[in-house]
Amino acid sequence: MRFFVDTADLDEIREAQSLGVLDGVTTNPSLMAKVGVEGKDNIFRHYKAICDIVSGDVSAEVLATDFENIIREGEELAEIDDKIVVKVPMIKDGVKALRYFSDKGIKTNCTLIFSPGQALLAAKAGATYVSPFIGRVDDISNDGLALIHEIVDIYSNYLYTTEVLAASIRHPMHIIECAKIGADVATCPLKVITSLLNHPLTDRGLEQFLADGKKLNL
Ligand code: G3P
Repeated sequence: MRFFVDTADLDEIREAQSLGVLDGVTTNPSLMAKVGVEGKDNIFRHYKAICDIVSGDVSAEVLATDFENIIREGEELAEIDDKIVVKVPMIKDGVKALRYFSDKGIKTNCTLIFSPGQALLAAKAGATYVSPFIGRVDDISNDGLALIHEIVDIYSNYLYTTEVLAASIRHPMHIIECAKIGADVATCPLKVITSLLNHPLTDRGLEQFLADGKKLNL
């Protein structure tokens, strides 16, 4: 399973990269607004800075909702760096744009996926990734992980090459369950990735080893 970090914060991306387990980055307009980047030039420079830190794919989202402008914005974003993946919302013009970008060899991430039918449409339109939002499905008392399961099953029935990028991940068990189901990628806040480190028996065991190590007079 690949790990992407879901943030636009350069320090967090550097920290995730330094762990040696990072495969890419996803951003969205809310995450960009959170780091306070404004204006097209600054935003494009910020995407470039992210691409310079990581070795894998970097999702950058279009703001347009009509076909012509999704294409215009997406082509401009794709020009920034080869690592850029154009993130497109699951709407009718978004689906048309997925097909257009796919035919042009531009990588895409279809976002705001909340049903298996949406994921099927995105795959048929040639999306590189789909982003089902686990946490937001859980938030409305439905089963976000069941959605990942259904999409993985459907894609494997027909050998679609679209990758399942599990998003809106809120805690470590979301990652573990996605790995068991066979999601291709989990995109997570840095604190959720680092929470995989934690186990009280590791802490207790290390404390004991260090205490006994002192007796060795190294
Ligand atoms: O990648 C999508 C993600 O940023 C949404 O997460 O926690 O806002 O539902 P969340």
